[in-house]
Amino acid sequence: MPIPLPRWFAHRGGGCLAPENTLAGIRLAARLGFKAVEFDVMLSGDGTPVLIHDERLERTTNGVGHVCETSDAQLFSLDAGAGEPIPRFEEAALLCRQLGLLANVEIKPATGFELPTAETVARLTGELWRDAPVQPLISSFSPAALEIARDLAPQIRRGILFELVPADWLAELRRLRAVSLHCAGDLLTDTVLAEASTEGIPVLCYTVNAEKQAKNLLERGVSAMFTDRLDLFAGETFSYKS
Ligand code: G3P
Ligand code: MG
Repeated sequence: MPIPLPRWFAHRGGGCLAPENTLAGIRLAARLGFKAVEFDVMLSGDGTPVLIHDERLERTTNGVGHVCETSDAQLFSLDAGAGEPIPRFEEAALLCRQLGLLANVEIKPATGFELPTAETVARLTGELWRDAPVQPLISSFSPAALEIARDLAPQIRRGILFELVPADWLAELRRLRAVSLHCAGDLLTDTVLAEASTEGIPVLCYTVNAEKQAKNLLERGVSAMFTDRLDLFAGETFSYKS
């Protein structure tokens, strides 16, 4: 069965026009015509899944310290940019459902928290998107997290995620019963693209912020891309079939 994939995913929920991994970013992406968003999910100190990329708070919020050591009370009082709070995973899921967006849920465990993060996020993903017409896609750099997702929420599609794709990627994809290959666009080789094409596996590339690179990747057979440049590629989502 072919996987219906929009051409563009708004990277980290919003990219350059809104604070990353916020509900404002997701809303903006939808308003600009994006049909899909990617965001990162990590556990707070209280074990609550929230949208944030880094293990530490400093780069994207006005807080300090590790996300996994910060209580919900502290975490949800922080400013994640432009007065936006750090969203709960649950809020982001409901918003994506309301807006009809395809969500790429990237399980982003803090070091040493792979198992609880994957268990919580996989179970919740299954529950939050139960009976939803647009089903999400789970990905992670952590094979352990994807194994857990495969076992706890097998009905949710999985993508394997690499920076540089390793030679044994296809065996890994099969082991994890994943449906797509996600990787860094600037490191993607034609050998990998040929293997994926033979197997009918879609390749999704991050982070594509320049038109020249987007054109090159599309011509070489890449299916979809993650971008921060909501301004640059918004119009393009209308011109490609999803
Ligand atoms: O899922 C694609 C991309 O988001 C992976 O890199 O570091 O931005 O989460 P990162
Ligand atoms: Mg990510």
